[in-house]
Amino acid sequence: MRSLLLAVTLCILPCVLGQCNGTNCNLPNCRCFDDVNAPGKLQASSIPQIIMVNFEGTITKVNVAFYQQILQETNPNGCPVKGTFFITDEGTDYATVKTLYDQGNEFGISSIKGTTPASSTAWINEFKKVQSALVQVGLKSGDIQGVRVPQLIVGGTDQFIGMGSNGLTYDSSCVSAGYSDAPTMIWPYTYDFVPGVKCDIGNPPDIPFPGVWQMIMADLHDINGDKFPCAVPSGCRNITTKRDAFDLFFTAFQAHYTGKRTPFNMVIDPAFAANTDLRDGTIEFLQYVRAAFGDDVWILPMTKALQWIKTPVPLSGVKTFQPWGCS
Ligand SMILES: *[C@@H]1O[C@H](CO)[C@@H](O)[C@H](O)[C@H]1NC(C)=O
Ligand SMILES: *[C@@H]1O[C@H](CO)[C@@H](O)[C@H](O)[C@H]1NC(C)=O
Repeated sequence: MRSLLLAVTLCILPCVLGQCNGTNCNLPNCRCFDDVNAPGKLQASSIPQIIMVNFEGTITKVNVAFYQQILQETNPNGCPVKGTFFITDEGTDYATVKTLYDQGNEFGISSIKGTTPASSTAWINEFKKVQSALVQVGLKSGDIQGVRVPQLIVGGTDQFIGMGSNGLTYDSSCVSAGYSDAPTMIWPYTYDFVPGVKCDIGNPPDIPFPGVWQMIMADLHDINGDKFPCAVPSGCRNITTKRDAFDLFFTAFQAHYTGKRTPFNMVIDPAFAANTDLRDGTIEFLQYVRAAFGDDVWILPMTKALQWIKTPVPLSGVKTFQPWGCS
């Protein structure tokens, strides 16, 4: 009773009523969405520019051949780069999933067949089914941490109940045009305090989920005209040539790199990867940033990026940062 009272006094009331700040929310397990400092209060010049290349949907032998071509670079510590795959269960070739996992890629969950569950129970079952399929083929359940929901329609509290019930610790579905330019971009943050950022599509949880992260995505921008924001590359207008694809990603990269060096969450949707010119532009972009920006640019799966965010080390020490070693 007494300890319950203490718990209520220490957490639940401030968590619901208080403002997130540096007194009640600190790394490694809590970060306020409006924290103006980088993790570790590092200056931009001491921050590795993280690029997280991520894919979503059904995994087949055909599209994996495209994805493998995109993941050919090497990080500054000599380790081959890996991506993050958010799986749609229906139609997925799980033998291919296991091969990619054994090569060090990260797997998360998208959905069973691309539709949005309608209740907390449905979310629980949705995540459970895809997680079981991954575990059944040999993935460690503890390695499955992340979620990217269909059409980026963030499912509010019900989605986060479904995640919590299945031990999932981050969502990467929130895209917000208000946080998509160099001066406004923000770091991933936790839901110890809500609601955080208002996502452009769907809703964040309206009750706290302590220690659960949002790997927020900055919009890309059209490369011409009014440079309207676009959530995923296939949604950006008039991107038809290899050069367009390169420019689309490089413009977004520069906003991150010359700005606060927040992680670049680089979504490669299946249609984009399947188009030879757009795929080649994507490959060229990754080759270029690794070649041109020396040891500053690191291409990592999301959980590895999150390990740095939780326990940051300055750029000068990242080559020996243990979680980023070859696994
Ligand atoms: C942080 O918020 C808590 C609870 O809302 C408050 O008691 C504390 O004074 C705040 N600290 C700072 C540094 O603003
Ligand atoms: C896209 O291309 C069309 C046709 O060439 C052009 O009219 C339009 O202005 C372009 N839009 C953007 C955003 O570049």
